[in-house]
Amino acid sequence: MKRVVIVGGGVVGLWCAVRLRQGGAQVTVLEAEREDLSVFSPTASAAAAGMLAPVEHAVSPHERVALESFDIWRRSQANAEWADGVHFGGAVVISGSGEEAEALRANAQRLGRQARALNIAQLRKLWPFSVNVAHATFIADEGIADPLRVLSGLAMQARALGALIEYEADVANVTANAAMTQEGRVYEADQVILAPGAWATEKLMDAAPALRQIRPAKGQLVSVILPGPLGATVRAPGFYAAQRRHDVVLGATLEFDRFDRRPDPAASDALLAKANALFTGEVKPAGQSWAGIRPMSPDGWPAIGRSGDVLVAAGHSRNGWLLAPITAEIISAYVFDASLETGWAALSPERFA
Ligand code: GLY
Repeated sequence: MKRVVIVGGGVVGLWCAVRLRQGGAQVTVLEAEREDLSVFSPTASAAAAGMLAPVEHAVSPHERVALESFDIWRRSQANAEWADGVHFGGAVVISGSGEEAEALRANAQRLGRQARALNIAQLRKLWPFSVNVAHATFIADEGIADPLRVLSGLAMQARALGALIEYEADVANVTANAAMTQEGRVYEADQVILAPGAWATEKLMDAAPALRQIRPAKGQLVSVILPGPLGATVRAPGFYAAQRRHDVVLGATLEFDRFDRRPDPAASDALLAKANALFTGEVKPAGQSWAGIRPMSPDGWPAIGRSGDVLVAAGHSRNGWLLAPITAEIISAYVFDASLETGWAALSPERFA
């Protein structure tokens, strides 16, 4: 049986754990943080909004991989531990101009997904928008994960399948065949996989040079009370509003090269101002604001494949939640020497060399 050690127990590491156990590997996950995560933990997956948004304005060579990942979320939900933590309610996307809205709908059509223009009356029947809203599109293929619920569900699923998850196991060094924790514990493996988010140390970067390409970007969110129900995620220029299981969040700032997770009241105020310009009635702060540190890659898409002596699943940028399931599929193909589809091989870290 192949022994695999995964460094990092965020959404990417846990999806890999589940998938690799299903494939028959012996799996150990080493996570530096405690098991009881909160939005204030350094784990970016816990602080994230949890958006599963595969249809975008921009055309990308990797967009079909994003759709594949979205479809895995949807297919896996029925029997999953985390089923109640994911909701597929679609999204209203407000574009900056009529041309941008047309481009978004053309993208959706080209990808075989549904997107339809919404006029203000249609919008108002569904959501508490003000009169100012133009260029709105409804996208059916979009969802939202409740990060804390799904992270705990994925950990339960991985354990039920027989994976070992070690929390508060901060990895100091890795080689091709072992990971060593700060306390000196050694975990031997046939394959080491690094999924450290933005938190790779020099030693991890020495083992996997691709990790040097990853830059941190702070993203701040604020929980809010909306004047009316939000039937779907809203994505607008400069902010989004997402209804999760127990809260509505506004996000997010994008502040490069920041590792500090202190929320900045001015950033929350700016998000609230943007939301208030769009919704009728007052969007009020619900009392919490927090920030996560995203691992940004040079092109905004993850690096998945071999780097140095190990495998990396890194640099998921703004889409860790969306891309975690396909990341696990691709990592599984590398671990079990299965054939790589063209779109999967295209995410290899070699593209940044
Ligand atoms: N995908 C949400 C964000 O990066 O803010």
